[in-house]
Amino acid sequence: DETLEPPKYPWNHSGPLSSFDAAAIRRGHQVYKNVCASCHSMESIAYRNLIGVAYTEEEAKAMAEEEEVEDGPNEEGEMFTRPGRLSDHFPAPYPNDEAARYANSGALPPDLSYIVKARHHGEDYIFALLTGYRDPPEGVNIREGLNYNPYFTGGQIAMARALYDGAVEFDDGTPATTSQMAKDVVTFLAWASDPHQDERKKMGVQALFTLSVLFLFALYSKRLRWSLYK
Ligand code: HEM
Repeated sequence: DETLEPPKYPWNHSGPLSSFDAAAIRRGHQVYKNVCASCHSMESIAYRNLIGVAYTEEEAKAMAEEEEVEDGPNEEGEMFTRPGRLSDHFPAPYPNDEAARYANSGALPPDLSYIVKARHHGEDYIFALLTGYRDPPEGVNIREGLNYNPYFTGGQIAMARALYDGAVEFDDGTPATTSQMAKDVVTFLAWASDPHQDERKKMGVQALFTLSVLFLFALYSKRLRWSLYK
């Protein structure tokens, strides 16, 4: 089939010594919240997970409180709504899969929590997908309710192009071009898929350092001991 391989992009966080770009995660969350969240859930992420990563505790708390969360049953056995808390996870856009499919011409928008890990070519694929919408080549018929995108297997996807220049207003003033939003939302999704990546890399560096010191010491003591037998 004619599915295109995504190009490789130089992600800020992909080197063995590179950490996530916190400002990009923050902007990416703004893209997710204002654009993607109307169709895609992110069940694994709670508001508190954003603290120290992209937002301060006060900001994350304020964001959670904007949400109306269904809770219960209370002592009378009734369900009720309350303002969100830091421990609440991001709200899902649909009550269940049937409702999600009904709203999307039969296709199910996948939960985006681990999507970067779940798809071949991860970040590169999702960036290419989000920015890859174009007119179909001549002779290609697009089925009702689908959209042409050469990076999606089979070339026809139920998701319409979601990102257009200016679709969000970043609170740090970065111009919200289509590719900027795509890059940032992919960085946010990459962080969500692997939130402990930075710590792991740091531990790797520390382990290498410790092992090097131990190795040099071992080398030195071996030489010292054998130096008698010349
Ligand atoms: C599928 C990301 C916005 C509806 C997908 C997939 C990704 C994705 C990664 C999976 C593609 C695959 O299976 O390989 C995003 C991002 C968005 C966004 C990052 C925001 C920038 C939206 C919006 C809607 C939507 C606003 C609804 C209006 C869907 C649907 C599918 C899908 C229905 C399933 C497509 C199919 O299987 O044919 N999206 N999406 N998405 N998305 Fe989105």
